[in-house]
Amino acid sequence: MEQKPEEKNSFLYKLLNFPFFYLLVQFLLYKKNSKSKIFEEYFGLGVNDSVLEIGCGPGINRKLLSTVQYIGIDINCNHIKKASKKYPNENFLCTDAVSFTEDIYKESNNILICHLLHHLNDENCKKLIKNIYKNIDTQQSVLLIDIIFKENQHPIAKLLGRLDKGNYVRTDVDYLNLFDDNLFSKEVKYVNKLLRIPSNFVITKLVKK
Ligand SMILES: C[S@@+](CC[C@H](N)C(=O)[O-])C[C@H]1O[C@@H](n2cnc3c(N)ncnc32)[C@H](O)[C@@H]1O
Repeated sequence: MEQKPEEKNSFLYKLLNFPFFYLLVQFLLYKKNSKSKIFEEYFGLGVNDSVLEIGCGPGINRKLLSTVQYIGIDINCNHIKKASKKYPNENFLCTDAVSFTEDIYKESNNILICHLLHHLNDENCKKLIKNIYKNIDTQQSVLLIDIIFKENQHPIAKLLGRLDKGNYVRTDVDYLNLFDDNLFSKEVKYVNKLLRIPSNFVITKLVKK
Protein backbone atom coordinates (compact mmCIF):
# COMPACT_ATOMS: atom_id res chain seq x y z
CA MET A 1 0.00 0.00 0.00
CA GLU A 2 1.29 3.45 -0.91
CA GLN A 3 2.21 5.55 2.10
CA LYS A 4 0.63 8.98 2.45
CA PRO A 5 3.00 11.95 2.15
CA GLU A 6 4.26 13.32 5.46
CA GLU A 7 2.81 16.78 4.83
CA LYS A 8 -0.07 18.37 2.93
CA ASN A 9 1.25 20.38 0.08
CA SER A 10 -1.56 22.35 -1.56
CA PHE A 11 -1.19 26.11 -2.05
CA LEU A 12 -2.55 27.14 1.38
CA TYR A 13 -0.32 24.65 3.20
CA LYS A 14 2.70 25.75 1.17
CA LEU A 15 2.19 29.25 2.57
CA LEU A 16 3.14 27.87 5.99
CA ASN A 17 6.64 27.20 4.64
CA PHE A 18 7.10 30.97 4.73
CA PRO A 19 7.96 32.29 8.20
CA PHE A 20 5.49 35.23 7.95
CA PHE A 21 2.43 32.98 7.49
CA TYR A 22 3.67 30.37 9.96
CA LEU A 23 4.20 33.00 12.67
CA LEU A 24 0.83 34.63 11.91
CA VAL A 25 -1.09 31.34 12.33
CA GLN A 26 0.76 30.60 15.57
CA PHE A 27 -0.01 34.09 16.89
CA LEU A 28 -3.70 33.68 16.13
CA LEU A 29 -3.99 30.18 17.58
CA TYR A 30 -1.94 30.23 20.78
CA LYS A 31 -3.09 31.60 24.12
CA LYS A 32 -0.60 34.10 25.47
CA ASN A 33 2.11 32.47 27.62
CA SER A 34 0.58 28.98 27.33
CA LYS A 35 3.68 27.45 25.77
CA SER A 36 6.20 29.27 27.96
CA LYS A 37 4.31 27.95 31.01
CA ILE A 38 4.89 24.39 29.78
CA PHE A 39 8.58 25.10 29.19
CA GLU A 40 9.02 26.56 32.67
CA GLU A 41 6.52 24.77 34.88
CA TYR A 42 6.37 21.33 33.38
CA PHE A 43 9.72 20.93 31.62
CA GLY A 44 11.42 22.99 34.36
CA LEU A 45 13.68 24.78 31.89
CA GLY A 46 15.64 27.62 33.46
CA VAL A 47 18.52 29.96 32.68
CA ASN A 48 21.20 27.36 33.33
CA ASP A 49 19.78 24.75 30.98
CA SER A 50 20.83 24.21 27.41
CA VAL A 51 18.39 23.30 24.66
CA LEU A 52 18.72 21.71 21.25
CA GLU A 53 15.42 22.20 19.43
CA ILE A 54 14.71 19.81 16.57
CA GLY A 55 12.24 21.21 14.02
CA CYS A 56 12.60 24.71 15.45
CA GLY A 57 10.75 26.44 12.58
CA PRO A 58 11.51 30.19 12.41
CA GLY A 59 12.77 30.12 16.02
CA ILE A 60 9.37 30.89 17.54
CA ASN A 61 10.18 29.09 20.79
CA ARG A 62 13.53 30.78 21.36
CA LYS A 63 12.07 33.85 23.01
CA LEU A 64 9.91 31.68 25.28
CA LEU A 65 12.94 29.91 26.72
CA SER A 66 15.00 31.55 29.43
CA THR A 67 17.94 29.21 28.77
CA VAL A 68 21.17 30.92 27.76
CA GLN A 69 22.36 28.13 25.49
CA TYR A 70 20.19 27.21 22.51
CA ILE A 71 20.69 25.48 19.15
CA GLY A 72 17.88 25.09 16.59
CA ILE A 73 17.70 22.80 13.59
CA ASP A 74 15.05 22.61 10.88
CA ILE A 75 14.74 21.14 7.40
CA ASN A 76 13.19 24.36 6.03
CA CYS A 77 16.01 26.78 5.18
CA ASN A 78 13.56 29.75 4.93
CA HIS A 79 12.70 29.21 8.59
CA ILE A 80 16.38 28.89 9.55
CA LYS A 81 17.26 32.11 7.66
CA LYS A 82 14.50 33.97 9.52
CA ALA A 83 15.59 32.55 12.89
CA SER A 84 19.27 33.38 12.27
CA LYS A 85 18.33 36.93 11.32
CA LYS A 86 16.28 37.40 14.48
CA TYR A 87 18.85 35.74 16.77
CA PRO A 88 22.24 36.43 15.16
CA ASN A 89 24.14 35.15 18.19
CA GLU A 90 22.46 31.74 18.26
CA ASN A 91 23.25 28.58 16.31
CA PHE A 92 20.67 27.60 13.72
CA LEU A 93 21.24 24.81 11.23
CA CYS A 94 19.26 23.86 8.12
CA THR A 95 19.27 20.07 7.98
CA ASP A 96 17.06 16.98 7.97
CA ALA A 97 16.89 15.83 11.59
CA VAL A 98 16.04 12.27 10.59
CA SER A 99 19.35 11.60 8.88
CA PHE A 100 21.38 13.97 11.03
CA THR A 101 23.99 12.06 13.01
CA GLU A 102 26.52 14.63 14.13
CA ASP A 103 27.64 15.13 17.68
CA ILE A 104 25.34 18.11 18.28
CA TYR A 105 23.20 16.13 20.78
CA LYS A 106 26.04 16.08 23.29
CA GLU A 107 26.07 19.87 23.65
CA SER A 108 22.64 20.30 25.25
CA ASN A 109 21.10 18.79 28.36
CA ASN A 110 17.61 19.03 26.82
CA ILE A 111 16.40 17.98 23.40
CA LEU A 112 13.17 19.85 22.62
CA ILE A 113 10.80 18.52 19.95
CA CYS A 114 7.75 20.70 19.62
CA HIS A 115 5.07 19.86 17.05
CA LEU A 116 7.45 17.89 14.81
CA LEU A 117 6.54 14.20 15.10
CA HIS A 118 3.14 14.54 13.41
CA HIS A 119 5.08 15.77 10.34
CA LEU A 120 7.00 12.47 10.18
CA ASN A 121 5.77 8.98 9.29
CA ASP A 122 6.36 6.14 11.77
CA GLU A 123 9.53 4.99 10.06
CA ASN A 124 11.13 8.44 10.21
CA CYS A 125 9.93 9.04 13.79
CA LYS A 126 11.55 5.78 14.83
CA LYS A 127 14.79 6.65 12.97
CA LEU A 128 14.91 10.03 14.69
CA ILE A 129 14.19 8.61 18.14
CA LYS A 130 16.76 5.83 17.66
CA ASN A 131 19.30 8.41 16.59
CA ILE A 132 18.58 10.53 19.65
CA TYR A 133 18.77 7.47 21.93
CA LYS A 134 22.18 6.55 20.49
CA ASN A 135 23.55 10.06 21.00
CA ILE A 136 22.30 11.06 24.46
CA ASP A 137 23.15 9.88 27.96
CA THR A 138 21.01 9.29 31.05
CA GLN A 139 21.47 12.88 32.27
CA GLN A 140 19.80 14.43 29.22
CA SER A 141 16.03 14.81 28.74
CA VAL A 142 13.96 14.66 25.58
CA LEU A 143 11.00 17.04 25.90
CA LEU A 144 8.13 16.74 23.45
CA ILE A 145 4.85 18.52 22.72
CA ASP A 146 2.56 17.21 20.01
CA ILE A 147 -1.03 17.38 18.83
CA ILE A 148 -3.01 14.13 19.17
CA PHE A 149 -6.36 12.51 18.46
CA LYS A 150 -8.16 11.36 21.59
CA GLU A 151 -11.33 9.40 22.26
CA ASN A 152 -14.40 11.62 22.70
CA GLN A 153 -12.48 14.74 21.80
CA HIS A 154 -14.21 18.00 20.87
CA PRO A 155 -15.12 18.01 17.13
CA ILE A 156 -13.08 21.21 16.64
CA ALA A 157 -10.01 19.55 18.19
CA LYS A 158 -10.52 16.57 15.87
CA LEU A 159 -10.88 18.85 12.84
CA LEU A 160 -7.73 20.71 13.84
CA GLY A 161 -5.82 17.42 13.80
CA ARG A 162 -7.25 16.53 10.39
CA LEU A 163 -6.46 19.96 8.92
CA ASP A 164 -2.90 20.09 10.25
CA LYS A 165 -0.16 20.35 7.61
CA GLY A 166 1.39 17.23 9.16
CA ASN A 167 -0.37 14.07 7.90
CA TYR A 168 0.68 11.94 10.88
CA VAL A 169 -1.35 13.25 13.79
CA ARG A 170 -1.68 10.08 15.91
CA THR A 171 -3.97 8.84 18.65
CA ASP A 172 -2.49 9.22 22.14
CA VAL A 173 -1.84 5.46 22.21
CA ASP A 174 -0.06 5.35 18.83
CA TYR A 175 1.95 8.46 19.71
CA LEU A 176 3.20 7.09 23.03
CA ASN A 177 4.02 3.74 21.40
CA LEU A 178 6.69 5.54 19.36
CA PHE A 179 8.86 5.56 22.49
CA ASP A 180 10.06 2.13 23.55
CA ASP A 181 9.51 1.57 27.30
CA ASN A 182 12.67 -0.56 27.36
CA LEU A 183 14.73 2.40 26.21
CA PHE A 184 13.13 5.42 27.91
CA SER A 185 11.35 6.27 31.12
CA LYS A 186 8.34 8.40 30.24
CA GLU A 187 6.37 11.14 31.99
CA VAL A 188 3.16 12.07 30.21
CA LYS A 189 0.71 14.92 30.62
CA TYR A 190 -2.34 15.82 28.52
CA VAL A 191 -3.07 19.47 27.83
CA ASN A 192 -6.17 20.98 26.24
CA LYS A 193 -5.74 24.66 26.95
CA LEU A 194 -2.76 25.55 24.79
CA LEU A 195 -4.81 27.18 22.05
CA ARG A 196 -7.69 29.65 21.90
CA ILE A 197 -9.82 26.88 20.37
CA PRO A 198 -10.47 23.31 21.61
CA SER A 199 -7.37 21.16 21.07
CA ASN A 200 -5.60 18.11 22.50
CA PHE A 201 -1.88 17.92 23.02
CA VAL A 202 0.38 15.47 24.80
CA ILE A 203 3.47 16.58 26.62
CA THR A 204 6.15 13.96 27.15
CA LYS A 205 9.39 13.92 29.08
CA LEU A 206 11.75 11.06 28.17
CA VAL A 207 14.91 10.01 29.95
CA LYS A 208 17.19 7.30 28.62
CA LYS A 209 17.18 4.18 30.82
C1 LIG B 1 4.79 22.65 13.14
S1 LIG B 1 6.41 23.18 12.90
C2 LIG B 1 6.98 23.40 14.57
C3 LIG B 1 7.91 24.57 14.72
C4 LIG B 1 8.25 24.91 16.17
N1 LIG B 1 8.93 23.82 16.82
C5 LIG B 1 7.03 25.30 16.97
O1 LIG B 1 6.87 24.84 18.09
O2 LIG B 1 6.24 26.11 16.48
C6 LIG B 1 7.25 21.73 12.40
C7 LIG B 1 8.64 22.05 11.91
O3 LIG B 1 9.34 20.82 11.69
C8 LIG B 1 10.15 21.00 10.55
N2 LIG B 1 10.50 19.69 10.02
C9 LIG B 1 9.70 18.81 9.36
N3 LIG B 1 10.39 17.70 9.02
C10 LIG B 1 11.66 17.89 9.49
C11 LIG B 1 12.86 17.11 9.45
N4 LIG B 1 12.88 15.91 8.85
N5 LIG B 1 13.99 17.61 10.02
C12 LIG B 1 13.98 18.83 10.63
N6 LIG B 1 12.88 19.60 10.69
C13 LIG B 1 11.74 19.15 10.13
C14 LIG B 1 9.30 21.84 9.61
O4 LIG B 1 10.09 22.48 8.64
C15 LIG B 1 8.64 22.81 10.59
O5 LIG B 1 9.38 23.99 10.74
